[in-house]
Parts: sequence; C-alpha cells; structure tokens
Amino acid sequence: MSKYFNSNIKINKKRLIKSIYKMAKIGQLNNGGCRRLAFSEEDFKAKKLLINWCTEIGLNVSMDPIGNLFAELKGKFKKNESIGIGSHLDTQPHGGKFDGAYGVLAGLEVIRTLVDNNIVPPKSIKLINWSNEEGCRFTPPLMGSSVYAKSIKLNHALKTLDKNHLKIENELQKKFPQDIKKIFNHKLESFIEIHIEQGPILEKSKKCIGIVTGAQGSRGLDVIIKGQDAHSGTTPMNLRKDTLIVAANFIQLFDKRARNLNCDLRATVGNILTSPGSRNTISGYTFFTIDIRHPRSIILDKMETCINKIASDLIKKYKISINIKKVYNLPTVNFNTKIQNIIENACNKLNYTKMKMISGAGHDAMSLAEKIPTGMIFIPCLNGISHNEKEHASDDDLEAGCNVLLHTILKLNDFKTIHTPHL
Ligand code: HGY
Ligand code: MN
Ligand code: MN
Repeated sequence: MSKYFNSNIKINKKRLIKSIYKMAKIGQLNNGGCRRLAFSEEDFKAKKLLINWCTEIGLNVSMDPIGNLFAELKGKFKKNESIGIGSHLDTQPHGGKFDGAYGVLAGLEVIRTLVDNNIVPPKSIKLINWSNEEGCRFTPPLMGSSVYAKSIKLNHALKTLDKNHLKIENELQKKFPQDIKKIFNHKLESFIEIHIEQGPILEKSKKCIGIVTGAQGSRGLDVIIKGQDAHSGTTPMNLRKDTLIVAANFIQLFDKRARNLNCDLRATVGNILTSPGSRNTISGYTFFTIDIRHPRSIILDKMETCINKIASDLIKKYKISINIKKVYNLPTVNFNTKIQNIIENACNKLNYTKMKMISGAGHDAMSLAEKIPTGMIFIPCLNGISHNEKEHASDDDLEAGCNVLLHTILKLNDFKTIHTPHL
C-alpha cells in the first residue's frame, strides 16, 4: 500500500462536484440552500441516494439502530476493525449544500477512486453517514455518532420527540428502507472527517487546508418561563405575569453578560416559542434555547453561573417561574496528533497550503475523538458563511480537500503504530 501513498493518485474532480450538486437537489430551497431535517422525508431520500451510489460500486451497506449508515470497502486482511470516513447528510432548516454532505461525498469519492484504480486496501474502509448531526429537529446534536460512541443511550435517543411530538423510533420505522442489513457493532480503529470550516479563518489566511487540532466545547440549555395568560386590554401593567417580556429581558442580559465575560465566547439564542401566541393575550408560557461555546470549560461554567443569576433576579422582579434544563454538554476535544501529521504530510506531498486550527463548529468527529484516533480536515468556505443558504465552497477547494483525504487514508492504511482500544 505504501507505493500508493507515494504515488500522486488523484480523485475525480468532475465526479465529486457532480455528486455534491446532485445531492444538493434533495431538499433544495429557493435561495440555493438545502433543508433535510434529521429523519425527514428529505433526509431519507438523501440516504437512499447514498445507498444507491455505494451499492453501484459493490460496497456492503448496513444500518445501525439509530440509522447511521455504514458502507464498507472490504480490506485484504480479515479484520473486524477498519478506517472510518464520513460526516452527515442532515442539514439545518436553511442549510447549505456543503455542511456535512461534503464530508460524506468526499469519502465516497475516495472509495470510488480506490475502486477505479483496483486498489484493495489492507484494512477495510467504511464510509459513514451519521444520523442527526445538526440536532435542530431532535436535540441533542451529534446524536447518531454519540449513540455509536456510547455517550448517549440508544433507547433514550429513539424516544426523543420533535416539537410536533413525533418520535425518532417511529420516524425510522416509517421511512427507512426496511430491507437494509442491520449491523449493530461496527468496529473502527480510526476516523477521519472532512468538512468546510464554516468560519472565515482559512479564507482570511489564504490557506487551502485546515489541519484541525481540536474542537471547542458546547453546551445546550432550554429555558422555560411560566407566568399567566391574561387579557391584554384589561390587565394593568403592574399586575402582569408576562413571560414574553421576561424572556426579552433575559435574552438582552444574556447577550450583554456573554460579551463582557470573554471575547472568544459564543452565545446564541436560536429559537423561541411563546404561548398562546395571540396579539391580545398576555403570554403565560415562553420557551427559548441557549447555545454557548468556548474551548475552556471554566468559561462555560462562568457563563452558566451568569445565566442562573439572571434567572433568579428576574424571578424576584416579575414573580414568575423560570426553569433551566441543560440538554447537552459536549466537552472540548483534541484530535490525534499522529493523524494531524499524516494530514500535514499529505498537504506537503500534494503541495497545498495549510494551517493548524481549532474548530468553532461541532462535528461528529468530536463524538469519536474520545474513543479512537480521530482527525479532521477543513477547506475554506466563502466569507466563512454556513448554516445559511449562501454557503459556498469552490470546486478547486473541494477537490484539494478530497485529495488530502485520499492520501491521508492511503497512509493510514499503512499506519501500523496507531493502537486503539476497542470502542
Ligand atoms: O452546531 C454545530 O456546530 C454543527 O454545525 N451542528
Ligand atoms: Mn456539519
Ligand atoms: Mn452544521
């Protein structure tokens, strides 16, 4: 296999770009983006298209109980451990063409290139599509890869409801092809994910490839405020228990404290629901979500203390109830340094500019990083925009990243010094 690492074997750029744009038609939106919420019709259509492409080149396709897809290119030596490559096909409500899909389809292109060149790798290679990475319809994010890594219990995940009270296990039953093989214990010895950066650093630094050293921690909190429905015309201002006004104060103070606490802290309220949602009824119930991120957990602890202080002050002032529920806590992770070196060597061999960097966004690779040697490769995206229909990556960058992934996998296949505990 080492003769291949030293070769300058390249991926098929045209085929990669064609696959990305064909996949982007599933759940296509009016302004160029995609909407494929986890376990939706569109998400399953995307999985079915991936299954077709994998079976076309003779890969063994199977699904695990949370709907993660594994497509295996068998290795020469009978080993029940293999090298995983992949990402996710589900998107945000106004997602882009590349977030997640690039990682899955670049992995497919790597395998297609090996098959084209009749390269049977010493170790099996498994292309993986992780279920529900985004976590916007069913909380938490990174769900499929977290169940795989056993950091979330399968039954807990299957029972998760979306805002319309639809359950994951029923969505899976209803929509997923029942004829697909069910395999529940895929063993991986290492995992590589390629992804657009989703931020502006590579573009600003004029670098082609990001060698990702780790990813910052993120926490999700739900805030539930209970007051009292009342008539908007008859209720004096000083007798109201108006949860929407309390939420407005809360969010304002939350944003201010976050900006003062630390310049690298990221603090977002992304979703708010109020009830009964009528112009002439004072809202007796308001719910909103919090997403906070930082590489250092001490900063996230401090922000949580600020959030709880805001809540206790507002409870005193407005005489309403406020419940804060932590719905996930994803710690900061470091990626494997040996794999970072392999990625760097591949960039040098292929003559691509590169830089080391931490990921601001969350990725499935974070779920795996605690269990097995894991690495990530980034490519730039236009103006650093993502989770937005305008998300864009150039054909040249898509090609470059995929070539680096190919040569990283070729080298990993030779790489005898990574010893990994079983998952
Ligand atoms: O939220 C994230 O960072 C990821 O895109 N799901
Ligand atoms: Mn992603
Ligand atoms: Mn995303």
